[in-house]
Amino acid sequence: MTDTLTITKAQKSKIDQVDFSNLAFGSIFTDHMFVCEYKDGSWQTPEIKPYGPLEMDPASKVFHYGQAVFEGMKAYKDDNGDIFMFRPEENFNRINKSSERLAMPAFDKDYFFDGLNTLLNLDKDWIKPGEGNSLYIRPFVIATENGVLASPSTEYKFVIICAPAQSYYSGKVRVLFADHYSRSADGGVGFAKAAGNYAAQFYPTELAKEKGYNQVVWTDASTHEYLEEAGTMNVFFRVNDTLITAPTSDRILDGITRKSLIELARSQGINVEVRPVKVSEIVEAAENGSLKEMFGAGTAAVISVISGFTHKDKQFDLPDLDDAYAPKLKKQLTELQANRAEDPFGWRYEVPAIEV
Ligand code: COI
Repeated sequence: MTDTLTITKAQKSKIDQVDFSNLAFGSIFTDHMFVCEYKDGSWQTPEIKPYGPLEMDPASKVFHYGQAVFEGMKAYKDDNGDIFMFRPEENFNRINKSSERLAMPAFDKDYFFDGLNTLLNLDKDWIKPGEGNSLYIRPFVIATENGVLASPSTEYKFVIICAPAQSYYSGKVRVLFADHYSRSADGGVGFAKAAGNYAAQFYPTELAKEKGYNQVVWTDASTHEYLEEAGTMNVFFRVNDTLITAPTSDRILDGITRKSLIELARSQGINVEVRPVKVSEIVEAAENGSLKEMFGAGTAAVISVISGFTHKDKQFDLPDLDDAYAPKLKKQLTELQANRAEDPFGWRYEVPAIEV
């Protein structure tokens, strides 16, 4: 641990007020948070302190220009009480990639890992063992310089908050293939976890929800002929016995669950094709019965089965298969993540036990 982390503990834990058997995703937060300020060209001494409001000037640039990025990670506890994270270095690298695209400074790796490890040790009682339980970790960076000049901020806050989690989507997910609105464009910020990418999806997604869909599967902005991602998750299609998913690009998030699943599925002998996916081929496969499964993959969503989709007012339902890939892959992935199975890939990261 670096000696540059200051810790102020919460006087009283809120944990007794939480019903861990009935958690709405991301709505209750643990006792502590990590905060590090950037000013005068460098990250200052990071601190962990009781979870609470951030004091911000109304002219802070994040409020005006949306200069903000974030990450989503999870921690798991095994039956011995040991804590694990899944490929956290990937999240660290990705938040810095996102930051770079939004003209924000890269964060310091030691600060990130020391902060996370200490925070997870302090709030370890909030991580429940057992299938389906995890702690969702939300690192984010916001521009805090005061002033409405449209230019990159010279001051930032890097913050990490944590929320005990169960599932993101309850029940089956129905999706709408986008044929008008778009999520991202070539040369844009679609690959980054920029806050604005999510805000821009809210309106079209609300329109889709009014029609009974949980999510929109975004298509390419110029032709709407290619399926890209669902905004909260990357998407996989099973046609006959082949899994197909779109390649990442500057329009599509390089999902950590996505790339892990590609490797995991291939290691099981499943044929995985990473290539542009045409809307027309998926519609045709649904019509001729060769489309067996669709599912979304993401940190929050894990693997969420998609039970049907609509494209230009044509609705398709997917079959309920006995030998579906999605539940099998989900079980293998989550068992690996929570130290209930071997990890031949070296993806699991054990959080060191720290006296705090
Ligand atoms: C995640 O899967 O962690 C994400 O960041 C998606 C978010 C919309 C919950």
